[in-house]
Amino acid sequence: MKAAVLRAPGASVEITAVPLHEPRAGEVEVTIAAAGVCHSDLHVVRGEWDVPTPVVLGHEGSGVVSKLGEDVTDLEIGDHVILSWVPQCEHCRYCVSGRPWQCEVVANVVAPNGVLLDGTSRWGDGFHHYLGVSSFAERVVVPRSGAIKIRRDVPLDVVAIVGCAVATGLGAVRNTAGVPPEATVGVIGCGGVGLSVIQGARLAGASRIVACDINPAKLEVATKVGATETVSDAAELSDLDFVFDAIGRIETTEAAIAALALGGAAVIVGLPPAGKTARFDPLALAEANQRILGSNYGSIDPQQDIPWIIDLYKAEMLDLDTLISGRRPLEEAADALEDLAAGRTLRTLLTMDGGRS
Ligand code: APR
Ligand code: ZN
Repeated sequence: MKAAVLRAPGASVEITAVPLHEPRAGEVEVTIAAAGVCHSDLHVVRGEWDVPTPVVLGHEGSGVVSKLGEDVTDLEIGDHVILSWVPQCEHCRYCVSGRPWQCEVVANVVAPNGVLLDGTSRWGDGFHHYLGVSSFAERVVVPRSGAIKIRRDVPLDVVAIVGCAVATGLGAVRNTAGVPPEATVGVIGCGGVGLSVIQGARLAGASRIVACDINPAKLEVATKVGATETVSDAAELSDLDFVFDAIGRIETTEAAIAALALGGAAVIVGLPPAGKTARFDPLALAEANQRILGSNYGSIDPQQDIPWIIDLYKAEMLDLDTLISGRRPLEEAADALEDLAAGRTLRTLLTMDGGRS
């Protein structure tokens, strides 16, 4: 079982064989078709977020169900699935009140301990799961709720990016912010997440979509997917109804708040390194009736929203192909992460032969 692993924070990414155990009750094994390389994986590799190591990296991907654990009745072998990094427990107070993106077991057990819902890992040799997914591998075991069944008439090596970047971006616009038609929108950072926010704003019928990125190549792509204006410095943004920080640097979060019109909302979508604080002027915020919103996984309900996004792609209302800079074999995971860090790529997909269909 080949996988891209990180043995310790700051170490280099290695390809190695890791034993994978059988799915337990309520779990499935998925043979991975493609896995997207996201900035969050970079945070982990650089040691900016504290996750248990050694870890099998990756939290975005697609594949085919290859084994069923006991009690799994709503998935079948051969089903095409998108992996979700909120494999909700379905029992905690957030799950039962319709907010699976805030699942307590995911937040308190799965993510911090690098395990599945029952508190244990399905990887052998002491390896951990990354966000309950670990998609940089030929096969994975995930909770049933972490494998979202999708229609079969879309290519798995395109829709793989829906699992993190696209769901996060579209969800932030529709679910977290509720952007109405004719709103004016700013988007800081035009990586996989920001470009998805831009597309969400376009689908919502925003009247202005101002894209901001320090990298001119990213701004060209932003225009292609729906931005109506571009700027290279977040300080140039002003008087906007919604500003999305799709990077999560302290200065970009502060710029997002400063750029709001009366009654505007700043939405924090990109995730900063742990332990940082940002500043805002509470008097100005109160007087202007403004809001600061946090958006975890775009406040999505994966079971509902991922199939919705796939339908948008199929209806040619959503451009996924432009977000994918290229495909590389799993063996080149480290190079793909370096390319992302250097700003040379948007989304790179790591492709696994086993999942081709
Ligand atoms: N001002 C404007 N743009 C910037 C700045 C800045 N100060 N600094 C970086 N950028 C741009 C980069 O040029 C790049 O285009 O932000 C973009 C970030 O894109 P990616 O590296 O592709 O990141 P992405 O995968 O989209 O994730 C963004 O969301 O999921 C989280 O952890 C993830 O924090 C990350 C964020
Ligand atoms: Zn991600």
